[in-house]
Amino acid sequence: MSEITRILLVDDEDRILETFSMLLGDLGYYVKTASDGCTAITLVSEETFDIVFLDQFLGTIKGLDLMQKMSGIDPDLYYVIFTANGSPSLAVEALKRGASDFITKPFFVADLIKSIDYVGKKRDLDRQKKELLATLETRVSEKESELRQIYFSVLSSLAQAMEKKDTGTYGHCRRVSHYVRLIAAALDLHENDRNDLKVAAMLHDIGKIGISDFILGKNGRLTNDELDNIRRHPQKGVEILKPLKQFESILPAILHHHENYDGSGYPEGLSGENIPLLSRIISVADSYDVILSDRPYRAGTTNERAFKELLRCSGKQFDPEIVQAFVDMHTRYADRFVTS
Ligand SMILES: [Fe+2]
Repeated sequence: MSEITRILLVDDEDRILETFSMLLGDLGYYVKTASDGCTAITLVSEETFDIVFLDQFLGTIKGLDLMQKMSGIDPDLYYVIFTANGSPSLAVEALKRGASDFITKPFFVADLIKSIDYVGKKRDLDRQKKELLATLETRVSEKESELRQIYFSVLSSLAQAMEKKDTGTYGHCRRVSHYVRLIAAALDLHENDRNDLKVAAMLHDIGKIGISDFILGKNGRLTNDELDNIRRHPQKGVEILKPLKQFESILPAILHHHENYDGSGYPEGLSGENIPLLSRIISVADSYDVILSDRPYRAGTTNERAFKELLRCSGKQFDPEIVQAFVDMHTRYADRFVTS
């Protein structure tokens, strides 16, 4: 320690306090003494110390318990416990509970100086460790921010790729992403789920990149094979996103966005709450937008019809609780449903 080391000696033997405070004072240390727990607590509350030398047996209170109380007042304090009982188990317990060193009575001033020196080195190391950790945390946060940037670039490229493949998809996904946010707010979802939901909604149909242009653009009735092919887009979406770790948490939401609440959907025929919550939400928002897009009526009529359809399929295709949340949200905030 480069500056003057500030020491607090706590012992119920006045002789020890007098002798060692005088000897350490002569050596240039700043020393204060306390013969009981209350005085020690008061001193620690009023002044800053570097090391507390603490007797384990202090009448009504044990040194280690006092150490805990003082740590609550000043977490940066270092402690050296001394006692007439030199049992290894007490030494181990003292170190376990946060003491830096342990001295057995009777001791000499040289023992205290050795301890002061040891604690000084320990404190320097702790400081270096703290600084290193702070530097590492800064670097990790810089890297995370870089990764986030890359992540959003990837997201934007994927969305544009979808649009090139199937015109109108980007707009649809953007609107679905908007509706799921309204449902997430109504259901009071956790922020992590809200973020996942937003991204999953944007990318729920990304697997269509893997479907042939012929099938996607076909106006007439699809053959069974073509239908099977198009129904593989959730798995294809997962295959596309799987190599990117950033998308890991949204894969189940994408894989199951065409499951039906009654188990009649695909790819796995899951039902009820076995379908991931985010998929159930996307399913409602996705269908709502599809109904609106298919029938370009006047806005009011279209909304009415879309909600009628959602309610008709509630409990069959859709989770009733989510449909209700979406309907309630529309009743309360109709203006937020206007999207472009
Ligand atoms: Fe889909």
